[in-house]
Amino acid sequence: MAAPTTVTITGAGGQIGYALLFRIAAGDMLGPGRPVRLRLLEIPQGMRAAEGAALELQDCAFPMLHGVELSDDPRVAFDGCGIALLVGARPRGPGMERADLLAANAGIFGPQGAAIGAVAADDVRAVVVGNPANTNALIAAASAAPDVPADRFTALTRLDHNRAVGQLAQALDARPDDVRGVAIWGNHSATQFPDVAHATVGGVPVIDALAERLGGHEAAVAWLDDVFIPRVAKRGAEIIEVRGSSSVASAANAAIEHVRDEQLGTGGATTSAAVVSRGEYGVPEGLVCSYPVTSDGDGYRVVEGLTLDRRAHARFAASVDELVGERDAVRALGVL
Ligand code: NAD
Ligand code: LMR
Repeated sequence: MAAPTTVTITGAGGQIGYALLFRIAAGDMLGPGRPVRLRLLEIPQGMRAAEGAALELQDCAFPMLHGVELSDDPRVAFDGCGIALLVGARPRGPGMERADLLAANAGIFGPQGAAIGAVAADDVRAVVVGNPANTNALIAAASAAPDVPADRFTALTRLDHNRAVGQLAQALDARPDDVRGVAIWGNHSATQFPDVAHATVGGVPVIDALAERLGGHEAAVAWLDDVFIPRVAKRGAEIIEVRGSSSVASAANAAIEHVRDEQLGTGGATTSAAVVSRGEYGVPEGLVCSYPVTSDGDGYRVVEGLTLDRRAHARFAASVDELVGERDAVRALGVL
C-alpha cells in the first residue's frame, strides 16, 4: 500500500470542514488505494468542534484513514503536508460581497502561506477555498515564496464550474456529464464570466442546443446573458439568501473534485480552476485567475488558444480588473 498522504484542512471545525473530512477520509478525494493522514488546523475557538469531528472520524473506522491530528499552530498542522485545503476564513453574510472580507482574511493567509513555505512537503499543493479565494491564494503563494513555487497554489472555482454545468443540464434536460467544455474565467465573484462558447452537450454545441430548445439563436443568446450568466455568478448569494448561510456541501464537493483532478488528472477533459497567471489571455502575470484548465496529474495547465469574442473579452476583462483592484487593495494594506 502507498505511504499515507498528509492532508491539512484549515477551518476544520467549520461547516465546510465538517462536510470535507468524512469524504476525504472515505477516499473520495485521492481514490480508494491512497491512505491519508488528516491534520486539522483551527483557531482556539474552533478547536472543540474540530475535536468532535475527530471523534466521529474515529467512529467511522475508515480503512484508509491513518491518523487524525489537531493543532492551532500552522507550523505543526502543515508539517510534512502534501495537500492543503485552506478553508478557514470568515464567511460573508447577507448583503456582503466577498471582497468585503479582504481585510479580515488577509491576515490569515499570509501566516499560513509562510508556514507552508517553511514546513510542508517539497511537492505540496494548496487550494484556497476561503474567500476572497483568488486573492487569498495570491497572498498565501507570495508568503510561501521562495520555498514553494507559486503555481502550487490554486483557488477554487470548480463550484462555479459545477453550477454552470448544473444550470445547462437542467435547461437542456441533459445529464450533467454530457455537458463538456464549460469555462469559468476571472474571479470567484459576481464578475466571473461563465462561458459556453466552446461547450457541447452530447457532442452538439451548447448554443445550438439552446437555440433549438428556445426558438432561435437570438433567444439562446438572451437566455445566456439574462438568466444563465447572472444565475451562476450570483449563485453564492442566492444560496446565502435561501439557506441563511453560505454553501457548504456543494463547496466541499467542488474542493474534493478540484484536488482529485489536479492530483489524478482530468483524462483530457476541461474543467475550471483559478491558477497563477503566466500572462495567458493577457492577464497580468501573478494574478490568481480562473481559466479553463486540464491536468495530467501534475497540476493544472491553462487551455490556450481559445477564441473570446468582443463581448466575452469585455466580461473577462472586467473580472480581471476586479482581481487587479483586490491585489492593489491588499498591497495598500501592506500584506503583499
Ligand atoms: P465557517 O465559519 O463555518 O468555518 C470557518 C472555520 O474557520 C471556523 O471554524 C473558524 O474557527 C475557522 N478559522 C477562522 N480563522 C482561522 C484560522 N486563522 N486558522 C484556522 N481556522 C480558522 O465557514 P464555512 O462555511 O466553512 O466557510 C469557510 C470559507 O469558505 C468562507 O470564507 C466562505 O466564504 C468560503 N467559501 C468558498 C467557496 C468557494 O467556492 N471558493 C464556497 C463556499 C464557501
Ligand atoms: C459561494 O460561492 O457559495 C461561496 O463563495 C460563498 C459566498 O460567499 O458566496
